Amino acid sequence: MEIRSLEQYHKAYKQSTEDPEGFWGSVAEEFVWRKSPDSILQWDFEKPEVKWFSDGQLNITENCLDRHLDTIGDQTAIIWESNDPEEDSLKISYRELHSLVCRFSNVLKRNGISKGDRVCIYMPMVPELAVAVLACARIGAVHSVVFAGFSSTALADRINDAKCNLVITADGSFRGKKVIDLKSIVDEGLKASTSVKKVIVLKRTGSAVNLQQGRDVWWHDEITKVDDHCPAEVMNAEDMLFILYTSGSTGKPKGMVHTCGGYMVFTTYTFKTVFQYQPGDVYWCTADIGWITGHSYIVYGPLSAGATTVMFEGVPSFPDMGRFWEVVAKHRVNIFYTAPTAIRALEKADLSYVNRHDLSSLKVLGTVGEPINEEAWHWYDQNIGKGKCPIVDTWWQTETGGIMISPIAGITPVKPTYATFPIPGIQPVLIDEGGSPIEENDKEGRLCIGFPWPSMARTIYGNHQRYKETYFSAYSGYYFTGDGCKRDKDGMYRITGRVDDVIIVSGHNLGTAEIESAIDEHHQVVETAVVGFPHDLKGNAVYAFVITRDPVDNEEQLRKEILSLVSDTIGPIAKPDKIQFVAGLPKTRSGKIMRRILRKIASRDNKNLGDISTLLDPSVVESIKQGAL
Ligand code: WTA
Repeated sequence: MEIRSLEQYHKAYKQSTEDPEGFWGSVAEEFVWRKSPDSILQWDFEKPEVKWFSDGQLNITENCLDRHLDTIGDQTAIIWESNDPEEDSLKISYRELHSLVCRFSNVLKRNGISKGDRVCIYMPMVPELAVAVLACARIGAVHSVVFAGFSSTALADRINDAKCNLVITADGSFRGKKVIDLKSIVDEGLKASTSVKKVIVLKRTGSAVNLQQGRDVWWHDEITKVDDHCPAEVMNAEDMLFILYTSGSTGKPKGMVHTCGGYMVFTTYTFKTVFQYQPGDVYWCTADIGWITGHSYIVYGPLSAGATTVMFEGVPSFPDMGRFWEVVAKHRVNIFYTAPTAIRALEKADLSYVNRHDLSSLKVLGTVGEPINEEAWHWYDQNIGKGKCPIVDTWWQTETGGIMISPIAGITPVKPTYATFPIPGIQPVLIDEGGSPIEENDKEGRLCIGFPWPSMARTIYGNHQRYKETYFSAYSGYYFTGDGCKRDKDGMYRITGRVDDVIIVSGHNLGTAEIESAIDEHHQVVETAVVGFPHDLKGNAVYAFVITRDPVDNEEQLRKEILSLVSDTIGPIAKPDKIQFVAGLPKTRSGKIMRRILRKIASRDNKNLGDISTLLDPSVVESIKQGAL
């Protein structure tokens, strides 16, 4: 089912829509199943319920590890690059990784974890993070990785929502010049937890930690108490593989649930297809495993494909702005996958940071996470790809599990700022304002997907109703992505950005409701409205309009307090760039905040505010405009 030519792409796409079960059934044959699936797909977007390969049985780690042992057991599975360029990098072969995973699986079992239990992983980007993820999968425990930049409150929310039984963390993490004490954040987060019985702590930074007797154990002690023999748990294809939280328009983050079989098939297929991975290629995705990109395209997709995947602990700016390019040169990286926000930051640095490194190994470049602007696209193409590497601008979501719309490297055409064409199996539909599908090209609408694909999230953990309302109720019979999208005259798709109340800041999804409720915690604050506005480096930044109880005499002080509140409640990434104190907010007669107007003011697009006559008090708009920052 390989796609090596444009003709094969068209053929595969056609087959995938005319006979989806035949198409995915044959892709699935490449994997190791304990029981091959006979039933390929059952679905109903009204319920909604989607099942792929539902009578199949497997363990994803047998596909990521065991099946490679006889063929490429000694090939490097993971190249790990430290935050500190002076520290040796590590190369872990498939055989070694298999042994590490089996050993740690036994550690989890020793600590009371079995199939179906939820395990929270809050770790730096070290190989043990990948080991922890895979060990959960091996024994059928459900991992919930929380990005280690989230605050203790955000961590606690996620641990409690998933009722995790165990947390895996480290004493600390290195990020550029900073050392972050992860363990103390975990301790704080666990104060309110009743479900967590054990904490396994990896030693990374050597920071002092408080081990709570009976609860906390060291990773390095535990692994001496077990051997590395651990048969994989046999999982049903539709058993839960992991939960990963993502921000929504309203309320708390949603625990998106992914299942074993479909997720494996789709992430592997898209990894090999989109990047045109060839055996022996060194592949580097710069994401953190705390996000879906890391799950699907650092761990599961590449390892299942038998690739060599690079894991990088640090940040692009340390020790200088040339670090990414130094790592590319050092490990002779062939496929490089990063986010537009990183490209924009690196583009601002002197070109000598790029040109002092040998980037001749690069064959394919990728981007993900937010729309890429034309300037950044060309900079990436010219200076990193030297005009000879196709750029795959991959559009997808935590909810979709894998890449949905993207060029196929070197096979299908690219067009700057366009994610271009759907991957085989993906049926995008644009919906107009009135809720009807748009048939013609050269039109813009809301991006929906009209047919299930194997790696779609099956539910929101513990809240199927919310899953239905968020994704399947806006337009009946379609999965709604929350994104606006244009289709050009040739049928190529360009994502224009979120049409809901999610703001993508430096590639991270933030929910306005989450930030608002964090700010509302301040005793001086009566009400807050948060919107996004365009930002050169971050793509979008957060703008908060805040009504206070009393007139503010020290604005700077209050801003500082609000910033630290947001940082403590969610994490530093959610901090507003601008906080404007206002006397009122533009509300409709029914009390709904008209964010559209605030968005315009925040973007300094004051001329075109649209109809404000339906507002309860149209005069507030003028005063907000006057005070805009
Ligand atoms: C946005 C990341 C434009 C989009 C994998 C989507 C993109 C959200 C692109 C999901 C892209 C992702 N071009 N926008 N290539 N990729 N997005 O869940 O708004 O962190 O809905 O998943 O990021 O973000 P998430």
